[in-house]
Amino acid sequence: ALITLRQLLDHAAEHDYGVPAFNINNMEQGLAICQAAKQTDAPVIIQASRGARQYAGDLMLAKLIEGLQALYPEIPICMHQDHGNNAATCLSAIQHGFTSVMMDGSLGEDGKTPTEYDYNVDVTKKVTEMAHMVGASVEGELGCLGSLETGSGEAEDGHGFEGKLDREKLLTDPDQAAEFVAETKVDALAVAIGTSHGAYKFTQKPTGDVLAMNVIEAIHKKLPDTHLVMHGSSSVPQELQEEFNKWGGEMPQTYGVPVDEIVRGIKHGVRKVNIDTDLRIACAATLRRVATEDKSQFDPRKFLKPAVAAMKEVCVARLEAFGTAGWA
Ligand code: G3H
Ligand code: 13P
Ligand code: ZN
Repeated sequence: ALITLRQLLDHAAEHDYGVPAFNINNMEQGLAICQAAKQTDAPVIIQASRGARQYAGDLMLAKLIEGLQALYPEIPICMHQDHGNNAATCLSAIQHGFTSVMMDGSLGEDGKTPTEYDYNVDVTKKVTEMAHMVGASVEGELGCLGSLETGSGEAEDGHGFEGKLDREKLLTDPDQAAEFVAETKVDALAVAIGTSHGAYKFTQKPTGDVLAMNVIEAIHKKLPDTHLVMHGSSSVPQELQEEFNKWGGEMPQTYGVPVDEIVRGIKHGVRKVNIDTDLRIACAATLRRVATEDKSQFDPRKFLKPAVAAMKEVCVARLEAFGTAGWA
């Protein structure tokens, strides 16, 4: 059944667990996520970016979610708009059956340019007022996602901002966070702690100076009742990088957000954990493997079925690590 982000995260807070939010673009990702949720008896958040909505089309995505719900009636699913760039994106998502939206006012409508605090408050508040009228939840973001190693955003996936920002602008300020939540009445707050989207987050295993988990602890102290969201939280596991490269992929050594750091975040108010890249790598590595091992193969199902299994394995691991398993 479809539930709102608020319902799900209130339950998660009550029982001290976190919920992975996996990105969806197609049927195979949807099947992998739901098969994993069913196997682990877990609720789950499925989220679609603007790019996903363009790729699959709003109607196809809406029907896909409807189909997944019908196939897996026992799983509580929250359908969420990832990184809405303005009120229109958020409202049209709700029209298509999404139960939750992210209004990301930390960047402008182009999804690149860091904004001023007042703009962020105004646009987020506007969306919250309207979404709440029709029972949908809202996630806001304060601070800019981006690397503390380089002072820049993740350029590769189009979500990063342009230019360089200093540490203060990148990280969420705990006092400002308290003010932001009071003014906008968001149901969940995405915080910036040095993570970025995509595979290339850190050039070595992250320590506290580049992955600022202490900022989460400080925000949680100020806002003990606010559900916090970690973006850019793929772990980019070594095994997946090796598997991808083994079959001809070329991914330079990189480091993501270690699962145990996320688990630590969950002890300090993190309730939603965004993961896209890990599923992308698991999928791509499998497609490469089949293409290499069985060179005469041309039936897409022979590529996609094992890819679903590989993505499912990642989902199961996160649902278990974050304590989501068992709470459906
Ligand atoms: O926000 C980042 C997610 O990984 C979605 O990426 O815009 O390429 O679909 P996308
Ligand atoms: P990753 O690129 O780390 O998977 O992050 C996804 C994300 O934050 C989607 O909003
Ligand atoms: Zn994100």
